[in-house]
Amino acid sequence: MPTREKVTLSTLAEYKRAGRKFAVLTCYDYSHALIQEEAGVEVILVGDSAAQVLLGHPTTLPITMDFMVTLAAAVRRGAPSPLLIGDMPYLSFNISIPEAIRNAGRFMAEAGCDAVKIEGDGRLVDTVAAMSAASIPVVAHLGLRPQAVHLAGGYRAQSRTADAARALIADAQALAAAGAAMILVEAVPPEPAQRIARTVDVPVIGCGAGAGCDGHVVVLHDMLGLSAGPAPRFIRRYADLRTDIGRAVREYISDIQSGKYPAAEHGYSMLPGEAEKLARG
Ligand code: KIV
Repeated sequence: MPTREKVTLSTLAEYKRAGRKFAVLTCYDYSHALIQEEAGVEVILVGDSAAQVLLGHPTTLPITMDFMVTLAAAVRRGAPSPLLIGDMPYLSFNISIPEAIRNAGRFMAEAGCDAVKIEGDGRLVDTVAAMSAASIPVVAHLGLRPQAVHLAGGYRAQSRTADAARALIADAQALAAAGAAMILVEAVPPEPAQRIARTVDVPVIGCGAGAGCDGHVVVLHDMLGLSAGPAPRFIRRYADLRTDIGRAVREYISDIQSGKYPAAEHGYSMLPGEAEKLARG
């Protein structure tokens, strides 16, 4: 059940005009989606970071279209109101434009997404233009691109020189001109991120890109303190769920070992007279 008004691209365009920032969070399942729906998150990204935080892979590369569409559909069932972005997995949009459109269409038609996200740079202008012409809103993800981890030699902040920052800004402007519905910039200094936000008409989402973007995204497990490894430096922890859940699980184990759980109130009673009949043999 929607708990509030649906967030659309027009809502976000209006926010940008009014200088109102919006919150974006990743989400991968129905239960967390319900919480985000009720809490008022404006945009949800079903990120391919699911490969790492859900499946335990070292990179985002192994996740598949089928798995991502299943997750996105579950999130949509829990969160009807936020604008929902499906993250296109590694190579699901790079082989050919028809394949990119077919895969993106699955997020839209099968999962009920409002947009899809693709990682790349200015070389994707034709793909973005074709997807947009096929009525698929595209978020272009620039800067640190986890799918390019092997090319980049690791997860590193990007665009830290003036030349690299100029190239990033030009790419963002070209992708917006080609029809990108939003731009996402990850792990770049605030100067180029802010310049992009000021010079393109579409909303710009920052992920470790300073305060000047129109919206901000982080991985849910990082901000909740659920991730296994160290979080990126731009993460603020709003909870320590790894500790809290660990404590709860240890208490459960100890209650079972000591016989404190299950107690009488956790069981079902037999129908009247049936226990006596059973006791008679
Ligand atoms: O997959 C993901 O979670 C992402 C965000 C961190 C931007 O791409």
